[in-house]
Amino acid sequence: MDETTQDIHKGLAGVVVDYTAISKVNPETNSLLYRGYPVQELAASQPFEAVAYLLWWGELPTPEKLAEFQRRERALRPLDARTVALLDTMPVTAHPMDIVRTAVSQLGTFDDTLDRPGGWTDQTLDLGRSMYLFAQLPTLVAAVQRRRRGLALIEPRDDLDYSANFLWMTFGELPSQAAIDVFRVSMVLYAEHSFNASTFTARVIASTTSDLYSAVVGGIGALKGPLHGGANEAVMHIMTEIGSADRVGPWLDQALAEKRKIMGFGHRVYKHGDSRVPTMKAALDVLLKESGRDDLAALYTELEREFVSRKGIYPNLDYPSGPAYHLLGFDTEIFTPLFIASRVTGWTAHIMEQAASNALIRPLSAYSGVDERHVDGA
Ligand code: COA
Repeated sequence: MDETTQDIHKGLAGVVVDYTAISKVNPETNSLLYRGYPVQELAASQPFEAVAYLLWWGELPTPEKLAEFQRRERALRPLDARTVALLDTMPVTAHPMDIVRTAVSQLGTFDDTLDRPGGWTDQTLDLGRSMYLFAQLPTLVAAVQRRRRGLALIEPRDDLDYSANFLWMTFGELPSQAAIDVFRVSMVLYAEHSFNASTFTARVIASTTSDLYSAVVGGIGALKGPLHGGANEAVMHIMTEIGSADRVGPWLDQALAEKRKIMGFGHRVYKHGDSRVPTMKAALDVLLKESGRDDLAALYTELEREFVSRKGIYPNLDYPSGPAYHLLGFDTEIFTPLFIASRVTGWTAHIMEQAASNALIRPLSAYSGVDERHVDGA
């Protein structure tokens, strides 16, 4: 076939690259299953630790297994002094995604099991590494948030579960149980979503038989972009820019005239609505009510109503999670690092799945440059 007439799948849209047993996204029924379980059921009933366990081991833990898992996770939470020292070398104004990406890269350098023969891709070691990153990320993200505010870091508390401890380390106090639950729900909903851009990036890196830390660092780089994870941060920026519900109409007129993408709307796979949005919106409603922020509630509803009626494009998970993280008290720039803390579970499950049945991911391209030519005199 002539290179210029080949079938190009730009953005790999519609291309099925491989099998996965980790999650199933069904855009027809707006459903998302983790290892067979509807994500809404997991969000309604499971601690985030149980969801991480499910993604890695394929089954929900028994109470005994969960207790053992939580004991191990709590022991791995404290940051190494060298990580705290590394944080201090980075400008406090640097984007938290860049800081967290750099710190995760450093965590890989502490792991001397990588030096063992076959150590880069050993499945048992990778499970331990996944657990380590899962336990370290909340402490890291909380530290980055506190540093931005000029506050001293807070040690993890091993009497608190993942979600409560995350908020404790960030704010130095515990919010209501309802607010802790909102945070837990967001972590469950963000954990896994099949071959999204960052997961695919991680799988590409794993497919070269590189190590798990390298694959996770690559995933963080992909997640940062506003077309992917960075959208939860961008949603809050546009809400601040709009200001109030009565300004939505004129703001949208101008934004659409300028061909701007409206962050938090649209999805590559879901075209009739994102399966995770109703659960996250219900969680956001709890915070809106608790905080009495009727202004933000009105802005949220009006932007959704106007944009859907004009374009027929529906909100994605980042639309309700952005304002939820804002109401929990996080800086806007911390929203996407929160997504890392959750998605690291899905990334690492995929890295291990890729390694277990590996084929180097290496697509082809069609050349569209100038015809062959030669250096004068050659
Ligand atoms: N705002 C404005 N227009 C949008 C839009 C949005 N959020 N999402 C899609 N569209 C429009 C595109 O401009 C395009 O219009 P056109 O055909 O007139 O050019 C059409 O819808 C198809 O969009 P496209 O970007 O080609 O689809 P995609 O499958 O590649 O994009 C996203 C999916 C997520 C990248 C896209 O919807 C987007 O950029 N959303 C905003 C960022 C975001 O919220 N990302 C988080 C995703 S979970």
